[in-house]
Amino acid sequence: MRDSSAANRVRIDLGGSLLSFVQIESMKSHLAAGQQRLESPGEDFTGWVRLPKEFNKQELRRIKETAEAIRHKCDAFVVIGIGGSYLGARAAIEMLADKGAGPAVYYAGHNVSGTYHAKLLEELQGKDVCICVISKSGTTIESNIAFALLKDLLAEKYGKEKAAERIYAITDPKSGTLRQEAEREGYESFAVPENIGGRYSVLTPVGLLPISVAGIDIDAMLSGAAEISDPLPFEEDGAAQYAAARNLLFSMGKVIEIFEICEPGMEYFSEWLKQLFGESEGKQGKGIFPASLQLSTDLHSLGQFLQEGNQIFFETILNVESPPRDMVVPESADESLAGLSMNQVNRAVVLGMMAAHQKAGIPMIRVDVPAMTPYYFGQLVYFFERACTLSGYLAGVNPFDQPGVEKYKAEMRKILSKL
Ligand code: PA5
Repeated sequence: MRDSSAANRVRIDLGGSLLSFVQIESMKSHLAAGQQRLESPGEDFTGWVRLPKEFNKQELRRIKETAEAIRHKCDAFVVIGIGGSYLGARAAIEMLADKGAGPAVYYAGHNVSGTYHAKLLEELQGKDVCICVISKSGTTIESNIAFALLKDLLAEKYGKEKAAERIYAITDPKSGTLRQEAEREGYESFAVPENIGGRYSVLTPVGLLPISVAGIDIDAMLSGAAEISDPLPFEEDGAAQYAAARNLLFSMGKVIEIFEICEPGMEYFSEWLKQLFGESEGKQGKGIFPASLQLSTDLHSLGQFLQEGNQIFFETILNVESPPRDMVVPESADESLAGLSMNQVNRAVVLGMMAAHQKAGIPMIRVDVPAMTPYYFGQLVYFFERACTLSGYLAGVNPFDQPGVEKYKAEMRKILSKL
């Protein structure tokens, strides 16, 4: 069973999943309720479902104008945030940005390493800097510490008043300390929509502002997502079929999903996927553990485990059909390889791995991505957000909360209060 055959879409291929048409079809009625919930306007935290089609035009214009102003104002742009307030933007920028065109993008506040931040501040010394702090709650300690460090750096460089013109804030529309500070200090600010949670917020100002600063076409990104945002019957709904397949595989003891990328530029996209599925499904003792591998790199490390180790996983391969660049293997290489294109060899790696894994009885799902462009990035984000939500509904969990994350924060605060 495949998604609509349109070539201009991200498509799912379940041919290697070891699941039969009948098995997948049997999930249709179980998924129907979830599909309906996604279409119901009152459903909690589903603001991202209609947003690509209904994005406020004025707000979009302001994002692009602000991004353009930032591009002219600085040569170093620091995105401060963690989890859903950072990973989506980084995924897009690492996948799509042309290095050297526009400011270099740095990241802060996604860890609390003194070493990382000391090095970052040193690196920023001789540069013209703008910063963008992103936190829906405004209470996240990782981003708060990094924001304080970078505000000090700006105040030292430009004076407090001028520094404020280089600070951009993306936070709750009304409440929280970051919102209050933005209003008080006059930072240019944007709102994280109330009905959209962190890991579903890539296609809101949270992702779109930094992505646009990196020179990536955010209109194309939104139209890619909009293109696949209409409700579809199960037979054409690739995201629903994928949700069905992964839940069936889970019930057969495949408790780990390994996302496999064939293009290194997608490394942070797989990080984003791990957060999306891990935080959305891993609760109430349930969930498929999301992992990731890079081909062919990891075939020379974990490949052995995949082929012959404990078979508790299935693979989801992100297959880019037309990678943006290519090279010819030079004549000086092994004669069986000379003259081939590297993309041909990369493809042979994937097909070879799939053939070997098929023989080992490993279930594989292939997601075909026509190209690495903003348009298909938008589709990928929307496809996986939809699939993850449907999958969570199917498993009977709330795909939009993360009560477990709060628990480490509470313990950490107790420890910090004693220091
Ligand atoms: O997906 C989520 O909700 C989380 O990963 C948050 O984005 C992350 O914890 C950061 O939260 P905040 O934006 O409130 O700083």
